[in-house]
Amino acid sequence: MKNIAEIRADFPILGRSVYDKPLVYFDNGATTQKPQCVIDALTEVYTSYNANIHRGVHYLSDMSSEAYENSREKVRSFINAGKKEEVVFTSGTTGSINGIAFSFGERYIKPGDEIIISHLEHHANIVPWQMMCERKGAVLRVIPVNDEGEIIFEEYLKMLSSKTKLVSVTQVSNALGTVLPVNEIITAAHSVNAPVLIDGAQGIQHGVVDVKIMDCDFYVFSGHKIYGPTGIGILYGKEKWLSELPPFQGGGDMVDKVTFEKTTYNELPFKFEAGTMNFTGAIGLARALDYVMSIGRIDIAIREKYLLSHATERLSAIKDLKIYGNSVRKIPTISFLLKDIHQYDAGMILDKMGIAVRTGTHCAQPVMDRYGIDGTIRASICFYNTREEIDILAGGIEKVISMFA
Ligand code: ALA
Repeated sequence: MKNIAEIRADFPILGRSVYDKPLVYFDNGATTQKPQCVIDALTEVYTSYNANIHRGVHYLSDMSSEAYENSREKVRSFINAGKKEEVVFTSGTTGSINGIAFSFGERYIKPGDEIIISHLEHHANIVPWQMMCERKGAVLRVIPVNDEGEIIFEEYLKMLSSKTKLVSVTQVSNALGTVLPVNEIITAAHSVNAPVLIDGAQGIQHGVVDVKIMDCDFYVFSGHKIYGPTGIGILYGKEKWLSELPPFQGGGDMVDKVTFEKTTYNELPFKFEAGTMNFTGAIGLARALDYVMSIGRIDIAIREKYLLSHATERLSAIKDLKIYGNSVRKIPTISFLLKDIHQYDAGMILDKMGIAVRTGTHCAQPVMDRYGIDGTIRASICFYNTREEIDILAGGIEKVISMFA
């Protein structure tokens, strides 16, 4: 593995200052920074072969189509999907979940059917299902969580029945960092023949994801959270589901034959890719996945475990700091509050010290409601962060506390 100085040198933005202080970027849960190779990939498209994909007979269009399809293959191999046809490009996690919620609802859901999610979901894995339930007269059931921020598995098992038509859970809570037992969740759902969608937005970048071993029916993630560009995401679906589901958007390229009387659809995966796709984003994402592989996913996970342990030790030693989310299995995300100091005030003062953290509900209001709070301060750490940066954060928090004392 490269040493940390070499890794940080790959990300040009990490060398900048804010307010004349070195940037300490702990908002990786919201979006990650980009290595130079991803920035270069986008520049290469625009400077040497930009042309719309799947449409032209000309040289540049061939080049961009080939690069786009090679990117699909790269994603397939990264998540170990069985076939390229099972990998659909979308705008991101939100786009992927909305698409499946719409199509699945149209194809399979009847009044009284049940969809199960957990109390740890991001709004993107709540609202599309609520919209679908409202449209179809279905019922949304929610797996409760304990005080540590872990799902209560026995309660989940009790919810499963022949009425369960789909389970959709996050792999990792964006608000608390909890890693969910997705393999066990999937096995249990399959025992009642319910397919499972895994929201990998906060999971894909922290370890090895193998959709075959996981045996999930759908797996979705965003490019920008795994060091790739914004506006590109993935919807993986088992071929049997994607073949049966209707498209969620109509337009160019997703069709076979169009007449005013009837339209037939293109084959997989193009049936789900309407209009001009974000092909530059897909090419940039493939480059990001190459980068992650070059560092090594196991090495990333090991380094992040070490950073989580140091951050937990430093932050939990601070008097009047309370950490929310103490699951045994966590990614290096620490959500916390300071006694008698509003999270926005703390976040703004930390910002003036050059430290970027996220404050608020993290698009997960039900998680905040579970703990009776209106938000937290969230430090979401990743492999390019350092022990010294965590010490700067701890020192910054002490300073905030002393300013309010
Ligand atoms: N979902 C992103 C986050 O957790 C934006 O911050």
